Order: sequence, then structure tokens, then C-alpha cells
Amino acid sequence: MKRAIKQVIKARRQTEGGGFQIRRPLPAPGVRYIDPILMIDEMGPVDYLPGEAIGAPDHPHRGFETVTYMLAGEFEHRDSAGHAGRLQPGDVQWMTAGRGVVHSEMPSARIMEEGGRVHGFQIWVNLPARLKMTAPRYQEVAASQIPEAVSEDGLARVRVIAGEALGVGARIDTHTPIVYQHWILQPGADIDQPLAENCNALLYVFAGGLVSNGEHLADGEMGVLGKGDSINLSVPAASTETTQLLLLGGVPLGESVVQHGPFVMNSQQEIDQALQDYQQGRMGAIRQA
Ligand code: FE2
Repeated sequence: MKRAIKQVIKARRQTEGGGFQIRRPLPAPGVRYIDPILMIDEMGPVDYLPGEAIGAPDHPHRGFETVTYMLAGEFEHRDSAGHAGRLQPGDVQWMTAGRGVVHSEMPSARIMEEGGRVHGFQIWVNLPARLKMTAPRYQEVAASQIPEAVSEDGLARVRVIAGEALGVGARIDTHTPIVYQHWILQPGADIDQPLAENCNALLYVFAGGLVSNGEHLADGEMGVLGKGDSINLSVPAASTETTQLLLLGGVPLGESVVQHGPFVMNSQQEIDQALQDYQQGRMGAIRQA
């Protein structure tokens, strides 16, 4: 059975942290999360002038995973476990915060100085109670190493960050089954993508428009998917634009979710503990190079 779009949510434009412009389809009014996906931020696209670019200086996380996918621009990151790196277009960083990290996510020195376009995604994926205090883990995959596939007619291309599509499996290891696919669809594309029945799933369109089973999604709209074992992704042949979307989902954890800013736990008591651990420096600090 094909999954229907049971709810359409428009992403809201807002300003995060120090002034970073985002579109956020999740959370939305009345929808705290789509278990296990907690948050979807589309960063930009924004064109910065020299000296204008903004990022997220040192801040903590505990109890879930942050997944950063760059489409344009460069981000430099550092964290309390001594990891440092630079994310370039097409790269993915899958960070399991687990029991706690302090990290910074900043535009690269080049973008800061010269300005330029920044576009990408940050998704928050929840961890089950048994893994909330696991050791932090980083998986960084360069653009050239992200598995890609193209449909037989050449009209659909998919980058498989997590899960499987068009016979290609992801390279990133996830703690629970997660689907994270970036689809690039040309006019006339028509795909039926299998999706395990036990997964919650959603589509977020960030360029062009999509038709799924006769229902439409426009740029900046998220479609929450109903039950079924596949999803139809199509673009009318008469369309003049390339459509881009994320297909996201996972097996729901079915546990209580208590969030306080950058901490996502199962109880208020665990949040209080996270705040205390952070304030007392138990999540570490970033050593300056
Ligand atoms: Fe962060």
C-alpha cells in the first residue's frame, strides 16, 4: 500500500542563535516531533556579505544525534572530545551526542572573510533510553563517499545518507533504523520508493514541487506520511523546475520525550542532571587550537 500524505506543514522562517536564518518544518505547532525525528532545520540558503556569516559557538548536546548535511558553503566544527573538521558541500556529519559533547559549528574562515552562500540541513534524531548516555561518536562522510543512485530513465537521482534506495545502501551506521535520502527529481520523474511499514516517515520539499499519489507538496512544505510500505515521488512532466526533497524517517522509539534546549531525555530528572553536568563542566570544553 502506498503511503498517503496525511498532514502538510509549512516550514516557518526564523532566526536561530546568533542570527542564523533557517526554515523549520519540525517541530511545528501541534507537532512536537515525528518519532524518532525531533527537528529539521534548513539552514539558509543565505548569501552572506564579507564579515556577515553567523554560526553556533560552543554549546552542549545530550541524549540524541545531530546530523549536518551541507549543500553550499563550508562549516568548521570542533568539540570537547577533540574532534575537528570542515564540512563542504555534499558532506555529512552524523554526531551521536550520547552522554554529552560541547561543540561549535561555525562558517569557515573563508566564508567569514569573503562571504558566500550557505545552505544545508541540520536534523536531530532521537536516541532510545538505553543509548542516551552512550559514548559520543562522529561519523563524517565526504560528498564523494555518499552512495548515489540514478533511476533507469535518468530522471531521479538519490543520495542515500541513511537507509536504502534504488538498490543502494547507506554507509553511515545508525543506532536505530533511520531513513535519510536526498532526492533530486527532474520533470517527468516517477518513483515508487519502498519504505518499511514499521517506520514513521515524512517528506520535506526544498526546491520545486512534488506530487505524491495525487497530493501536492510545494517548496518549503513537509508532508507527514501515513501507513503503508512505499511512497510515490513524482514531478509533472510539464514542470519547469528541478525538485529537491528529503525523505526522512525511522522506527519510532515510543518513549517519553522531555526536551530542554540542547538536551533531549526521557524525564525532567534526567534534564536537571544534564543541566547540572553541563554547568559543572562534565560535558567537557573545547580546547582552543
Ligand atoms: Fe549543535
